[in-house]
Amino acid sequence: MELAVREVAPKNRKPRQKDESKLGFGRLFTDHMFEMDYHPDKGWHDPRIVPHHPLSLDPASMVLHYGQEAFEGLKAYRGKDDGVYLFRHRDNLKRMNNSCKRLVMPELPIDFISDCLKKLVLLDRDWIPTSTGCALYIRPNIIATDPFLGVRPSSTYLYYIILGPVGAYYPEGFNPVSIYVSDKYVRAVVGGVGDAKTAGNYAAGLLAQKEAKDKGFTQVLWLDAIERKYIEEVGTMNIFFKFGDEVVTSPLTGSILPGVTRDSVIQVLGKWGVKCTERNYSIGEVIAGLKDGHVTEVFGSGTAAIISPVKSIQYKGQDYQVGDGKTGPLSQKLYDYILSLQYGQQEDTFGWTERIDL
Ligand code: COI
Repeated sequence: MELAVREVAPKNRKPRQKDESKLGFGRLFTDHMFEMDYHPDKGWHDPRIVPHHPLSLDPASMVLHYGQEAFEGLKAYRGKDDGVYLFRHRDNLKRMNNSCKRLVMPELPIDFISDCLKKLVLLDRDWIPTSTGCALYIRPNIIATDPFLGVRPSSTYLYYIILGPVGAYYPEGFNPVSIYVSDKYVRAVVGGVGDAKTAGNYAAGLLAQKEAKDKGFTQVLWLDAIERKYIEEVGTMNIFFKFGDEVVTSPLTGSILPGVTRDSVIQVLGKWGVKCTERNYSIGEVIAGLKDGHVTEVFGSGTAAIISPVKSIQYKGQDYQVGDGKTGPLSQKLYDYILSLQYGQQEDTFGWTERIDL
């Protein structure tokens, strides 16, 4: 397949936010995007980089009614050497294909998409922020486009990638966040689509998220849907608890998103000789540990959230502070280390970081 490129004339390019402390998350978009169509007779075809533009969709498009879609979130980083780096981007593309399988959508050719994604990022490379913690967020999305109101998998699809410069995901910046344990709502159940990155999982979480926000919390901590007991994940990140010398996170049972940053944390802890166990653990165990001081650190992991320390947890109306409420030493060390890998500033023994501008 031949990639067509239609560039925005330099005089028509958008002004950029110069103050990177004001970037926030997900509000600004670059000049270009990637698109490609799927038709059962042609497969994936007509790949193109074009100006970022509104989509024109039939109002009957199946994605708008039945949510048949999958997306990804990854980032391009600008190193101190001005190099442009991607971090484990093929793992995101592979995860997207797993989401596609679950949502009965055609898989993407990973090598080709990887090439197109790099070309797109390099075309908009001037948008990549330079401050640590800021990056160019990359959002691939695949949507069902048949104009049809019966319930079945669509036969046509649009795949696109948009880009935007981002800073911290949470309004707290990189400071510790407070989370609220929902025992009223659930996010996903084993056998459902909880381990696919698909819009419905996020829509299902909005009411609990709103209630948490109204009560002054940053995010919701989800429990398992059957017993409402075991820790699963937080709204936009996986979650880790440090019990004494052991770090614990939930296993990938099928209802949890298999985070690329989650896997990186597990591997980095292994390299450092810190015991990290994937096991079921209950909210009761967490509360007991917070009360008697056995739980010393709690942090989330995600592409958008990076490593996000948690300062307090509310469960059944009771607030529990984590340690002294400040970022713990292990969370800080992980944040610094993973960021330095992502920005190409650390010898990468894992082979995760790829410089793409040479
Ligand atoms: C990411 O971490 O990239 C995500 O996709 C979370 C997102 C829903 C903001």
